[in-house]
Amino acid sequence: VTPDIGIGLIGAGTVGRLHAGYLSKVPGARLVAIADVDRTAAEATAREHGEIAVHENTVSLLADGAVAAVVIATPGETHGRIIEAAASAGKHVFCEKPLDLDLARIDRALEAVRKAGVTLQVGFNRRFDRDFQSVRDAIVDGKVGEPHIIHLISRDPLLPGPPRDVGPLAGLLFDTTIHDFDMVRFLTGSEFDEVYVLPGDHVHRAGVIDTAVVSFRLGNGVIGTIDNSQAAYGYDQRVEVFGLNGAIAIENERRHLATVSDETGVHAALPLPFYPERYESSYIAELAAFAECIRMGAEPLASGADGRAASAAALAAQCSIDECRPVRIAEIS
Ligand SMILES: NC(=O)c1ccc[n+]([C@@H]2O[C@H](COP(=O)([O-])OP(=O)(O)OC[C@H]3O[C@@H](n4cnc5c(N)ncnc54)[C@H](O)[C@@H]3O)[C@@H](O)[C@H]2O)c1
Repeated sequence: VTPDIGIGLIGAGTVGRLHAGYLSKVPGARLVAIADVDRTAAEATAREHGEIAVHENTVSLLADGAVAAVVIATPGETHGRIIEAAASAGKHVFCEKPLDLDLARIDRALEAVRKAGVTLQVGFNRRFDRDFQSVRDAIVDGKVGEPHIIHLISRDPLLPGPPRDVGPLAGLLFDTTIHDFDMVRFLTGSEFDEVYVLPGDHVHRAGVIDTAVVSFRLGNGVIGTIDNSQAAYGYDQRVEVFGLNGAIAIENERRHLATVSDETGVHAALPLPFYPERYESSYIAELAAFAECIRMGAEPLASGADGRAASAAALAAQCSIDECRPVRIAEIS
């Protein structure tokens, strides 16, 4: 019998805690240790999962012999350094998006991963979602002929208060749009060539970007838009790919499929509330795939190179906002 892969969780906030739960559903992997700079957070998640070692810090977790792989769920700007340390300690790495906000830190992390020969997977869970995979399959199968235009609508539910002000970098680009940058590359198999962003603070009027339209051109000539905002009716996750011979679209998954018809109209249920509901199966699938890649020595579907490309697109988008102009990806990466 192959022993379970011992997993150490670094960061036990909102998503770390969710990953701890998802890991319990992944065959062949077992959560064995947790570290968080906030010890109370680490202890709370440990208590939910039985016999788990709580470490003072990342260094001590990485020295734990029971840990063969780590799941990193700390804030984005810490990712590069933690990946570098984990890989240098010989641990396989699953890292939440974004891979980092800084390309130099990303490159050092990727070099450490290459040197150590460990597996690195990035948390682009939408690649493991049945609906997005169907869109990609339909494109690959030539169902719309040559794709010309792609639209992604990716809106969080209406959230209380303005978004976290993360200083000079637009939080929206690395928190939310980063998934869409990755989805564009995943669906089309092409790289970003140029991006132009129209940002706004239309939702909260607080001077922090909470709304944006990113227009772009890809290396293969496909043009498109990413539309980010917050929706009063729930989590809005749609895509349309338009090509010479037709179009492919996915609609929102709703809370149930019944429609009620009366004299005022035909009424359908709201979309699922947010990412834990909409993407649960993809979070479990991505962690199961990570364990499988470690066992087989295979390249993950969401690789370090994919993480770097999405962060490069986000940095070009940031530059477009700062300088009010279209920005070629080649200018920054
Ligand atoms: N894939 C997805 O759908 C998805 C959804 C939400 C968030 N995320 C990503 O997950 C990551 C975490 O987001 P979150 O919402 O859970 O944030 P959070 O603030 O709720 O949790 C972060 C945790 O990390 C801890 N931490 C901070 N620095 C640390 C360090 N150096 N070492 C150890 N622990 C540290 C904090 O104490 C906190 O408990 C982010 O990168 C975010 O973009 C991904």
